Amino acid sequence: MCGIVAYVGNRAVAPLLIEGLKRLEYRGYDSAGIAVRTDTGEVSVKRSVGRVSNLEALIEEDQAGVQGCLGIAHTRWATHGEPSVDNAHPHVGKTKDGHTVALVHNGIIENYSALRKYLEGKGHKFYSQTDTEVLAKLIAELYDGDLETAVQKALQEVSGAYAIAVMVDSWPHTLVCARKGSPLIVGVADHAYVVASDASAIISHTTQVFALDDYQVVKLCAGPEDKVDGTGEPWSVDLRTTTIDNVPVDHEITELEMDLEQIELGGYSHYMLKEIMEQPEAVRDCLRGRVDLRDGAIVLGGIQEFKRQMVRGKRFILTGQGTAYHAGLIGEYLFEDLARVPARCEYASEFRYRNPIIEDDTIVVAVSQSGETADTLAALAEARERGAMSIGVVNAVGSTISRETDAGVYLRVGPEIGVASTKAFVGQVLVLTLLSLYLGKRKHMSNERVDMYLKHISQIPEQIEKVLKQTDHIRECVKQVANRENWLFLGRGYNYPVAIEGALKLKEISYIHAEGMPAAEMKHGPIALIDEGMPVVFVATRGTQYEKVISNIEEVRARGGKIIAVATEGDTNIRQYASEDCIFYVPDTLEALQPLLTSVPLQLLAYHAAVERGHDVDKPRNLAKSVTVE
Ligand code: AGP
Ligand code: GLU
Repeated sequence: MCGIVAYVGNRAVAPLLIEGLKRLEYRGYDSAGIAVRTDTGEVSVKRSVGRVSNLEALIEEDQAGVQGCLGIAHTRWATHGEPSVDNAHPHVGKTKDGHTVALVHNGIIENYSALRKYLEGKGHKFYSQTDTEVLAKLIAELYDGDLETAVQKALQEVSGAYAIAVMVDSWPHTLVCARKGSPLIVGVADHAYVVASDASAIISHTTQVFALDDYQVVKLCAGPEDKVDGTGEPWSVDLRTTTIDNVPVDHEITELEMDLEQIELGGYSHYMLKEIMEQPEAVRDCLRGRVDLRDGAIVLGGIQEFKRQMVRGKRFILTGQGTAYHAGLIGEYLFEDLARVPARCEYASEFRYRNPIIEDDTIVVAVSQSGETADTLAALAEARERGAMSIGVVNAVGSTISRETDAGVYLRVGPEIGVASTKAFVGQVLVLTLLSLYLGKRKHMSNERVDMYLKHISQIPEQIEKVLKQTDHIRECVKQVANRENWLFLGRGYNYPVAIEGALKLKEISYIHAEGMPAAEMKHGPIALIDEGMPVVFVATRGTQYEKVISNIEEVRARGGKIIAVATEGDTNIRQYASEDCIFYVPDTLEALQPLLTSVPLQLLAYHAAVERGHDVDKPRNLAKSVTVE
């Protein structure tokens, strides 16, 4: 999920890899490492936790140990195993004839535990908790003098997502790379090849590139030859692209025409927009290896040991702050509705100090992107002190919350850089949905009902893609109302927390005053605020409370409010209440899954409002990404 840089050519590789890793730092990561095939014929590996500068310091201490012209490098965003030196990449494996294979990997190997057992049986000793080490050992196991063949064969055995770069000490001038699901770009330079997860780490070497497609393997050779090339130097370069089944494929080299900053943002103007747009992929990553539609299985490795205790749980308390709290509120609905277990979501800061009652079989679920929020940590400590079992729903692997909970499920949505949380929210809601289905399945839900949910969940990525296509439409609507200083966001049921999250997003980056609440609550007071043209955003998708929401819309319309509506595709009725240019449609899905879709147009609404008002979306005033004080 984070970054890869690899090089084979005629220059000293270590400084060049470090420079490439620094270019990828913006992607977020928790540890870094390099492997160099040294001039003395060995594979030398250096790894460190934290910044690339820590790795650079390590290398400076031992420059002689990393002299060579072939190397691979990695910034890791942990998915399996905490950020530690042992878990950092590159990972290595020993071939039968005593050679060392080194590999870096972005992505997730889904079937790693079965492969690990198989390889342990073959005598391989594992030193890390990662899924990646399995692939390094598998390639080593299959290596029979030909690295390209070993990589192809190994990839035929794995399921999941990968971008990899691999080398072996016995092939001093060859790099083998492959991808499925995670990006990888090959740069063709003079006397060299540079491979990276994105062009920002390539552009200082060459503008001639091609992107690997899924299931493609590329073998890149650059080394001295007897023959003399056009430059008068005895050097030859050669590349070959195949599928993992060894069928040769063509690749078209194109000219890169972007400046660096644009590349880092993937062509988007802000990280927040990039992260909003990444959500279909983030959802796929979050689901990868966890849901099996064929047999209706939900696999959540991080709670495996505690599943009995969880199923016995009599009450769930979900807790978090800000956006994570809003995800927790949706979790409250999900746990009660799908798992049929009493659940309540509370601000961590309030829970901590109000002498909470924790009975036997109470389970606390701490929800957090960073895993470092001080209020949430304090609530967790209080709950544990009082004897509760705890579960983390966290994005950052190895973060304090993930360490201090008994069990947990990671979001796996990749690093979130934008201060305003977007893809992590969707990831939190999705994990809470999976948890409630997991419990529901073991308690009372029929297999058919679980299957129906899983089928709809598997459609969510394409459905989000459809919603994202409306970004220009949303921007046009925003232009009409971005000058208004007071907005309301209203919804009922599952969409009530979506409304308050929509209001928070707008406040955070556009500095517009916005309030979110249950639609019914409006008439108990806030209706007094409504005057001519006041923007009121209704999350009005079809569902059990649709008619009631429509009545609330009527109430606002009667007072001259400007209705902005999130509605279900095909709902023509809604056009009576809102003008077509301010209706944002989402595809139909089960009511419990609607927040995964309805939250997306509200993210775009906030984003476009902030841009329209001229604010720096990625650096909102007074806000920090992670709030580590109570
Ligand atoms: C979200 O947009 C916020 N910046 C903020 O509310 C955040 O969700 C909150 O501080 C909790 O952070 P966490 O998920 O890292 O615990
Ligand atoms: N799944 C791998 C790990 O946890 C790779 C993570 C990444 O893409 O950085 O080590």
